[in-house]
Amino acid sequence: MVIFGERGRGKTSLANVVGETVSTYDFRVIRHACDADSSFGQIVAAVLAKVPARLLRRAIQEGEPWTLPAPDNIGVVEATNAFCSISAGRLLVLLDEFDRISSLDLKRQFVELMKNLSDAGARVTFLLVGVAQTLDDLLFLHRSIQRSLIPIHLPLLTQDDIEVLIRQGERMSGLSFTLQARSAITSFSVRSPYFAQLLCLHSGKAAVRAESATVEHSHVRCALQATAEELAYAHEDAYTRAVGGAAGGWKEELLYRAATRDSGPFGEFTAADLRPEGNEYDIEAEAAVDRALANLVSPEAGCLLRETHASDARSYSFSDPAMRLYILLRYALPRETGELDVTRDRLPTDTFPGERTSANHDSR
Ligand SMILES: Nc1ncnc2c1ncn2[C@@H]1O[C@H](COP(=O)(O)OP(=O)(O)OP(=O)(O)O)[C@@H](O)[C@H]1O
Ligand SMILES: [Mg+2]
Repeated sequence: MVIFGERGRGKTSLANVVGETVSTYDFRVIRHACDADSSFGQIVAAVLAKVPARLLRRAIQEGEPWTLPAPDNIGVVEATNAFCSISAGRLLVLLDEFDRISSLDLKRQFVELMKNLSDAGARVTFLLVGVAQTLDDLLFLHRSIQRSLIPIHLPLLTQDDIEVLIRQGERMSGLSFTLQARSAITSFSVRSPYFAQLLCLHSGKAAVRAESATVEHSHVRCALQATAEELAYAHEDAYTRAVGGAAGGWKEELLYRAATRDSGPFGEFTAADLRPEGNEYDIEAEAAVDRALANLVSPEAGCLLRETHASDARSYSFSDPAMRLYILLRYALPRETGELDVTRDRLPTDTFPGERTSANHDSR
């Protein structure tokens, strides 16, 4: 099984739920977080060291002592033999942070190991977890293993999921969130469980500091302000570079639309999704927008966007969900009055492709 998706999507949380669920069915769960420096032998040795003796019953009964080979001596064959000697119960090996492994050779070794264990009907299931857009990004796959893999690409949360998340937090913390507060958190969470939790946490802390058991809109504003400052530190330069340095250019509006328009389950959007509201694009305008989006994928633009393969049309998503939130906050926060709502009139920029003059928008 492979769980993949962008950072903060809830991959580890889902893997933990899988681990807890299977442990009630006679599975022993062994967790290991990968790092960039470990070798195949070191990772396998670390996992094997945690295999309880009771799972190795037959080997022990037959008087063969269970000795771990030294990490340097563990290759795919040794690892296959070791895992195949598990003869009681079942084992789930949860390898988290698998994306930290950059060596193709090492990935290939794991693929081979999983293939061998699957062919041998071993009592071991691997659950790999990592940040990736596609399964291929995470794993070096040959076709023969694809049949024995269950890939799970984690989608973004829905608005209803975020509502559930806030309700759970209310139950656990004893705080209650007003309608306005939950609506602002939902709007600014960019449908990421990580950001939804973070905004709830900071808003809750602001409420507690103010000795209030109710999280109000003003507390969410404090949380957003703090988050905006943190994000500006890491993202402002990249943003400025991507829009070409010129404030008020139509690329700013483009990115703002990309950040606000409700996109697909994986946060993807196409040039057509960014058309001016109530306007039809002509082909040239759509092509100009698509070119601008493609340009934002390039290293010169800091790879702000990446191309996804979620639909027939060329689609894109933000490379980093934090950038999407930064863009929302950049424009939504300076407005001192009004609700913290990300839906708003267009930015005061020059003409967007497909729109006739900027004067048209001023009169809207
Ligand atoms: N379905 C969910 N409901 C509520 N909270 C969730 C859910 N999924 C994840 N979270 C919370 O979101 C945060 C990020 O989750 P998690 O660490 O599992 O993500 P991840 O994809 O493993 O992140 P990373 O890419 O950094 O490893 C955590 O605080 C977690 O508790
Ligand atoms: Mg994780």
